[in-house]
Amino acid sequence: MKRLFLIGFMGSGKTTIGKIMAEKLGFSFIDLDHYIENRNCKKIADIFAESGEDTFRDIEHKMLLEVSQLEGVVISTGGGTPCFYNNMEIMNENGLSLYLKLSNEALSNRLNKAKTFRPLIKDKTDSELLDFIKETLTHREKFYSQASLTIDNDDDSPEKTCNLIISQLKQPAQN
Ligand code: S3P
Repeated sequence: MKRLFLIGFMGSGKTTIGKIMAEKLGFSFIDLDHYIENRNCKKIADIFAESGEDTFRDIEHKMLLEVSQLEGVVISTGGGTPCFYNNMEIMNENGLSLYLKLSNEALSNRLNKAKTFRPLIKDKTDSELLDFIKETLTHREKFYSQASLTIDNDDDSPEKTCNLIISQLKQPAQN
């Protein structure tokens, strides 16, 4: 395996798990959002505010193609990455995709504490946020479920989750 792509909703723990996984695998860690910000010299929130979501998705797709050429990397993607263009296909063709799955309630609890820098949810009240999660996840699950591996990350122990992932990666028939 040359690349591990972590996918899942905002707040599902992709960055935390990704960093630990990179260490365990001896890989480099790339956060796609940060990669986009560095390559475009602009914060995600500013890209959304100045150019709109469509432009962001276009940039995100191009950046995904770039990082899909790097070797020995764990890539934490944005919550929407798998759901636009043929991004899910790109990830499955170029590495192993892993979906970090959480319940709506767990996502809502986590996101309530970390919504200010996320343009899609920053102005939502608690109940609006839960409705947004339910609605958006129904649509996104179709894409997330195309991942090669799905891991339940409701548990709050990243180390435990990573050990579970490692044990799954050791099973035969993974590329
Ligand atoms: C988004 C998730 C964000 C970021 C952007 C859009 C989404 O990444 O890419 O704000 O559509 O779910 P995180 O999942 O890392 O928060």
